[in-house]
Amino acid sequence: AVAVLHTVAEVRAWREEQRSQGRTVGFVPTMGALHAGHLGLVAAAGEETDAVLVSIFVNPAQFAPHEDLDRYPRTLADDVRKLAATGRAVTVFAPAVSEMYPRGISTTVAAQRGTFVEVRGLSEPLEGGTRPHFFRGVATVVAKLFHIAGADVAFFGQKDVQQCCVLRAMVDDLFFPLAIRVVPTARDPDSGLALSSRNVYLTAEQRARAPAFYRGLCRARDLFASGVVARDELLAAVRDEAAQAQLDIEYVCLSSPDDLAEVQEVGPGGAILSGAWRMGSTRLIDNILLGFE
Ligand code: PAJ
Repeated sequence: AVAVLHTVAEVRAWREEQRSQGRTVGFVPTMGALHAGHLGLVAAAGEETDAVLVSIFVNPAQFAPHEDLDRYPRTLADDVRKLAATGRAVTVFAPAVSEMYPRGISTTVAAQRGTFVEVRGLSEPLEGGTRPHFFRGVATVVAKLFHIAGADVAFFGQKDVQQCCVLRAMVDDLFFPLAIRVVPTARDPDSGLALSSRNVYLTAEQRARAPAFYRGLCRARDLFASGVVARDELLAAVRDEAAQAQLDIEYVCLSSPDDLAEVQEVGPGGAILSGAWRMGSTRLIDNILLGFE
């Protein structure tokens, strides 16, 4: 029982219907190619709210011209089957690009026309280092989706920790009347590799090496548990484990959860240990939280 809506007007009408029935709405934005991580967000939404809306939209504005927009997996029929198999009453919003960007959209920022949302400060470090316009694209599409969905609660994954920080700031700054929940990272039970729609790009050989990054994060977590708070030691544990699997590290950072600035040690408020690495033309990210939930 999964209804698939394609237009803003249809979602608005659906939203009004929920309101008139007195149901709260939970919203799970995705780019599709759904895996157990996404389904965990849907489950969390189903636990907390009466009606769940899942958007499936590969958002051109968050890809750079050289990135994987064209090859990003698009599997709407499979996604709908997976949602149906959860047994939850879920409504899907799967808009066309022209529905979300009526003025058109380019992956080249200079060519874009229309309205965009920028969260300055939180968007620049970490992922922003190699993806300078990424969070502008994310914040813009999520702001649009929030306005369309009119949800009470929105659900995001810890795997994309900076995305959570950016969107929390956006919700505060622009007074969106909704709560944000962050759901822990779903991992492959055997290897610990964080589930990602981009894992399908990996060759068998790359897939075998990929879990080394999380092993490094776990070594750092163990060090922290034994009293180590120094950035250099924690980063070295990750880098060492990654080096053993010849991972091509883009960055590993220890950051303040408040402003994502680099910190020299895990302070009383905790810290985020995060990083990105490349395997061929695929780019993967992961993180853990140290000293806070
Ligand atoms: P996407 O990568 O499809 O992820 C959708 C949501 O699922 C995000 O909140 C993401 O953090 C969460 N997620 C992905 N993998 C996860 C995992 N292993 N465990 C837990 N949660 C996981 O993130 C996006 O799409 C887009 O940027 C979007 C927010 C939809 C805007 O276009």
